[in-house]
Amino acid sequence: MGTLIVANWKCNPTTLKGAKLLFNSIKKGIKDIKKVKVVICPPFLYITNLKSQMSNLKLGAQDIFWEEKGAFTGEISPSMLKDFGVEYVIIGHSERRRYFNETDEMINKKLKAALSAKLRPILCVGETELEKRKDEGLRVLNSQVSKALKGISENEARRIILAYEPVWAIGTGRSCLPNSVLEKKLLLQRIFKKRYSPSILGNLKILYGGSVTPENALLYIKEAQTDGLLIGGVSLVVEKFLKIIKLISK
Ligand code: PGA
Repeated sequence: MGTLIVANWKCNPTTLKGAKLLFNSIKKGIKDIKKVKVVICPPFLYITNLKSQMSNLKLGAQDIFWEEKGAFTGEISPSMLKDFGVEYVIIGHSERRRYFNETDEMINKKLKAALSAKLRPILCVGETELEKRKDEGLRVLNSQVSKALKGISENEARRIILAYEPVWAIGTGRSCLPNSVLEKKLLLQRIFKKRYSPSILGNLKILYGGSVTPENALLYIKEAQTDGLLIGGVSLVVEKFLKIIKLISK
């Protein structure tokens, strides 16, 4: 599928007009781009208004609920997302873990729900500043991934995309060193290989996210050998976002 560039718009922009403008500018900008797949994850409300027939531009959601339907005020189910042409979904983003008390157990349920709806989940994992200082990064990743994968078969796990996002690097301008990202990638591969079988590594995509800019983007692909990027802030700035895509497609 080539390199995957996921745009996490978070709670932006504040108008539909702004969302359409951003989406259409990206669409135009990547028309002739090869070898890169771009996934835009807008706020739920805008999803119906953003359409792409292009094979290199897909839609994702920023969250999902684990039940199909019923009395769950405010929630959006996997079927609803599918119905609107969504193919990817971010699960377990650190902002959700932190501000909305999402637990590993909830993340596990969301992951299962996304997989059974045939959506491609992008599972986010990463250590906080404090955990990094205590040198607990690897332990945290191990625990987050193992709990998220509970009860998920190898066949299903082949469709999971992982995003290593150190919490201290998100939106801070403090990006992670490529060799540290590579170390985490190797650990994540080891966890999957041990839990399932070595052949799963042929399917496993690992992204990096956290203060990605046009200046550092290529390092994460080339030096850290990741399969793509999860981009927040810079995905809202058309010129910078397109610059990253173009650099990577070369
Ligand atoms: P950032 O966000 O690029 O603004 O650091 C990344 C993310 O939260 O996924």
